[in-house]
Amino acid sequence: MRKPIIAGNWKMNKTPAEAKALVNELKPLVKEANATVVVCVPAIDIFAVKEEIAGTNIHLGAQNVHFKESGAYTGELSAAMLKEAGVEYVIIGHSERRQYFGETDATVNLRTLAAVKAGLTPIICVGERKEEREAGYTDALVEYQTLIALNGLTPDEIKNVVVAYEPVWAIGTGRTATPEQAEEVHAAIRKQVAEIYGQATADKVRIQYGGSVKASNAAQLLGQPDIDGALVGGASLKAEDFLAIIRNALGM
Ligand code: PGA
Repeated sequence: MRKPIIAGNWKMNKTPAEAKALVNELKPLVKEANATVVVCVPAIDIFAVKEEIAGTNIHLGAQNVHFKESGAYTGELSAAMLKEAGVEYVIIGHSERRQYFGETDATVNLRTLAAVKAGLTPIICVGERKEEREAGYTDALVEYQTLIALNGLTPDEIKNVVVAYEPVWAIGTGRTATPEQAEEVHAAIRKQVAEIYGQATADKVRIQYGGSVKASNAAQLLGQPDIDGALVGGASLKAEDFLAIIRNALGM
């Protein structure tokens, strides 16, 4: 009932020319994918990629958005700017933003509200660090991060957001969460959303797993009842690797 969503997070990789080349390779490969396929590209690549993917089933995503409409925020981009440039999805609160750029749950919430208001679909990243998992409060922490991020949205708006569960210890490390570990947290997130906004709303929210997703583990992860997709970093930078993940994830 929830359409799978497979998104590539290119992070700080690919110049505009390289970005064009990658999406051109991807276009024919993902044509048959019965999923929402998204590429979240560096801001400088947005126009180049938008032009290349016109008329295809690839959707355009950005990697961050500021929460103010405009003003003296050097280096930032507003939701309206992204929207007008043709962006549909935006990653918010990625652990690298939290770790290196001072993102907090409160700013993640503000960015989410701004994105939704402008008609963008946020991909809200939550996840625990290794020591937090070891201390035994993964579910509580991730539930809290999710609730703060969604605060102020209506149930109708919440239905359209995407949550990405990305255990920090699994990002870029090759150490993927097991399908059971991931499913436990995904189910906890959904249950928490259901408790506050109702089961019908929670059942519509797509929750992606991210953190060292590769072709060899995509099928098992996506096979879990509450795992509705993948947010793929490193393996989204090569068309054939990204395709292999999509194929395995969807059983194509
Ligand atoms: P990874 O990154 O697939 O390279 O682990 C995932 C992410 O950071 O979104």
